[in-house]
Amino acid sequence: MEPSDSSSGAPLAECEILFALTRSKIVARTLETCGEAAALPFGPYVDPVRADEEARLIRRHWQYACPAEKVARPGTYFATRCAGVPVVVVRDLEGVLRAHVNGCRHRGTVVMRGEGDCRRLQCPYHAWTYGLDGSLRAAPRSDREATFDPSSLPLLPAQVSAWGPLVFVAVSPDPPPILEELGQLGRSLADMGVDLSTLRFHGRSEFQIEANWKIVLENYLECYHCAVAHPGFAALMETSPDRYQLAEAGGLLSHQTSLREAAAKTGYPLGTIASGAYHLLVPNHTFDVNPGEANLAVSLTLPDGPSRSYGFTDRFFGPEVTDEFIKEMVAFDDEVGAQDQELVEWVQAGVSSGAVAAGHLLLDSERLVAAFQRYLVESLGPATHA
Ligand code: FES
Ligand SMILES: [Fe+2]
Repeated sequence: MEPSDSSSGAPLAECEILFALTRSKIVARTLETCGEAAALPFGPYVDPVRADEEARLIRRHWQYACPAEKVARPGTYFATRCAGVPVVVVRDLEGVLRAHVNGCRHRGTVVMRGEGDCRRLQCPYHAWTYGLDGSLRAAPRSDREATFDPSSLPLLPAQVSAWGPLVFVAVSPDPPPILEELGQLGRSLADMGVDLSTLRFHGRSEFQIEANWKIVLENYLECYHCAVAHPGFAALMETSPDRYQLAEAGGLLSHQTSLREAAAKTGYPLGTIASGAYHLLVPNHTFDVNPGEANLAVSLTLPDGPSRSYGFTDRFFGPEVTDEFIKEMVAFDDEVGAQDQELVEWVQAGVSSGAVAAGHLLLDSERLVAAFQRYLVESLGPATHA
């Protein structure tokens, strides 16, 4: 749809998107679908206010933090971020898994860095020292302050929950019930032959992409581009619309496909898993299983303003998986990832230009993209900012 001036008074069809640009205002109403057409307004991909709203939405949700094995023993900790907020996950000496906001109550420094063993959480700036339960145990020179009350200055609490080999944290006091939706994912993984209880952490890789986080995840949600942009993937996996499965189940947007008959000729290391499955758990987690031996990649994608995103991927493999399989599967995955990064950065360049006001989704092949859009509008309302 061409941009229209909101002051024109032109009537809109019931099912259309209003995307109106005026000199000082962008109004983008909810994505609506009608028959086989769906408009995709580009305003929310360049709007810093919308990016802030989306960052706050993500902050209300559970976020994957670290492999459970990193905090399995009493006195181990792992420092990370929860939607941009520094958090530290710690197993206390009684064996209780805890998480705290990792910001010192003195002047705000990040208290714990990295991972490892600890008996206390000590800030490296002025040595305020907290117990593993977050309580402030010592603050040098505080005895010279008549009104200093350490009991009022614990590390702020975060919520923590383990699911198989994964630890999730939440800085919101009332995050949505992620574990219910993860349960559906667990059944899907088990059906493919991935036993969560046996997976071992392999490594974390971080990424930064010059594209809006939604563009990154919308690219993830469709394989319409696979035959065009991923020749290696398309040689290995079925990508035709009749063979490629798309499914919505609550907040889990999933796609799955099987190996092509000629997969063995590609040189990819085949194994007991004969399909690939790729799941987005809204708003920003992805869970990938590639063909071959038992594997799982968990990724978080986060907004860094309207036109950049960042995140990380943690890879897990079954205990019997060989180094050779890991090397070849990761190389395959990295090749697809590099192709995707180039694709989405070009999308951002296009939408940032302002030359076109809205795109157009194909509601068969891109229905998970439409579902993601609907989720965002239902969660945040339509994007409407001066
Ligand atoms: S900022 Fe942590 S002790 Fe001063
Ligand atoms: Fe892709």
